[in-house]
Amino acid sequence: MEHLQTQGIGLPRLGLGTFRMQGDVCRAAVESALDLGYRHIDTAEMYGNEDAIGAALATAAVPRRELHVTTKVWHENLAPDAIRRAFDTSLKKLRLDQVDLYLVHWPARNMDLPAIFETLLKLKEEGGTRAIGVANFNLALLKTVVEEIKVPIACNQIEYHVMLDQTKVAKYLAAKSIPLVAYCPLAQGRAASDDTLAAIGRKHGASAAQVALKWLLDQDDVAAIPKASGAESQRANLGALELKLDDEDRKAIAALPKDKRFVNPGFAPAWDS
Ligand SMILES: NC(=O)c1ccc[n+]([C@@H]2O[C@H](COP(=O)([O-])OP(=O)(O)OC[C@H]3O[C@@H](n4cnc5c(N)ncnc54)[C@H](OP(=O)(O)O)[C@@H]3O)[C@@H](O)[C@H]2O)c1
Repeated sequence: MEHLQTQGIGLPRLGLGTFRMQGDVCRAAVESALDLGYRHIDTAEMYGNEDAIGAALATAAVPRRELHVTTKVWHENLAPDAIRRAFDTSLKKLRLDQVDLYLVHWPARNMDLPAIFETLLKLKEEGGTRAIGVANFNLALLKTVVEEIKVPIACNQIEYHVMLDQTKVAKYLAAKSIPLVAYCPLAQGRAASDDTLAAIGRKHGASAAQVALKWLLDQDDVAAIPKASGAESQRANLGALELKLDDEDRKAIAALPKDKRFVNPGFAPAWDS
């Protein structure tokens, strides 16, 4: 699978999202994904599934160097000592001595950005994580991080799918050669039942979900992390990579309403600030 090269790591463009999967269900999903060829697993301390993922990774036949594991620190743990504690706990649960990417999961309104990134950079220097990055950072925060604090972030992980316009942030990231990792790439599953996508899919012998994923993956510097619990959907999502969309398809997708944001917790700074 194609990788995005960023800050010294190669990020496989299609990963497995794991939010809302825990215990044996999560372990089985990760084992199945690795068997099918997934090499990028996305988790977070908040998902409560790092232990299950750790169990799956511990018995996997895949060499560690071929795997990419992302985890994230929750917004309540952004004080330097809390980041350290959260990071150590994540590593322990994942049964790893290093993750590939460690992200600030959400910005908090009262956070001390320089102190946060000083701590993350130390974790990187010490070898605990190969790269660091952010998630859910709006344009103003991104500019502060990239241009003022000058942090070498390897990605911004944000909600992005056929039903949500992210042009402003995507353009900025592209100009700085920072990958956009699209979460909720299937609009939390809604893309699978969209009539326009289904019609495009019929034309190519593909599903609506595959069309939604390929639309994202056709964009430079975009990776996607669909969550799928079963092997059938996991295989179908990998199969999206083979699909070829044409100009007519892209035009129809561009015409879909793009104002549907499904994730917007009250604690984070506003998207348009
Ligand atoms: N950084 C952040 O703040 C943040 C926020 C949200 C999510 N994320 C990450 O992004 C990942 C993906 O987002 P998400 O899980 O919210 O939504 P999503 O990936 O857009 O959608 C997941 C839903 O789509 C279904 N699905 C998967 N493949 C399918 C297929 N081929 N055909 C039909 N349905 C299919 C899944 O069904 P099954 O459940 O039955 O498999 C599940 O209900 C998360 O798991 C997490 O890792 C990050």
